[in-house]
Amino acid sequence: MSVEEISFGPLSLDEVTESSLGWSGGAAHIEYVADAVKRSQLGETDMIAGRNSINEVICYGGADYSTEVGSAKLWMLIVREELRGQGIGTKLFEALETAALSRVDRVFLHVETHNEGAKRLYERIGYIVEKSDTESWYELDAEGERYLYEAEVFVMARAIR
Ligand SMILES: CC(C)(COP(=O)(O)OP(=O)(O)OC[C@H]1O[C@@H](n2cnc3c(N)ncnc32)[C@H](O)[C@@H]1OP(=O)(O)O)[C@@H](O)C(=O)NCCC(=O)NCCS
Repeated sequence: MSVEEISFGPLSLDEVTESSLGWSGGAAHIEYVADAVKRSQLGETDMIAGRNSINEVICYGGADYSTEVGSAKLWMLIVREELRGQGIGTKLFEALETAALSRVDRVFLHVETHNEGAKRLYERIGYIVEKSDTESWYELDAEGERYLYEAEVFVMARAIR
């Protein structure tokens, strides 16, 4: 599949099911994505999906306008594992930044300090490390128990106009 065949547009709530997005995470994650899509209906986020020629979602990500005035936080960016490394993530960034352009001047994101591949990609696109920080969120362990995951992250940002 070539990058040109992918069409980008808003992720809709009826696509946020385990059968269509199960490749990207478990039930709790799908629920989190559904919440983000509902927030897009209130204007707090943009959730963008890339679809292949048979309309399957093969990547998605979001821009959250509620965390900092004048900025969008890009988050949850993910490309189906077997399709990574072909430029799809770069196109997903372009689609999210295009959506954010009408609302904010700056986009930023958090990347775990050990995620060197993703950090290299963001630097290539033009993001610059502003600072280090810590972030925490709930994950499920192998027994399905919820635990608080704490991560060291770089805050990376880019002016979009
Ligand atoms: C990060 C991610 C969205 C990039 O999507 P992509 O389609 O692979 O990106 P592109 O093809 O446009 O760019 C490839 C670059 O992504 C980076 N990358 C990160 N993880 C990668 C992976 N598993 N496979 C290939 N490239 C990866 C590399 O820097 C690569 O650049 P290189 O050619 O210099 O090595 C994707 O790899 C992904 O879904 N990773 C898992 C989830 C994740 O880590 N999200 C980021 C959280 S901040």
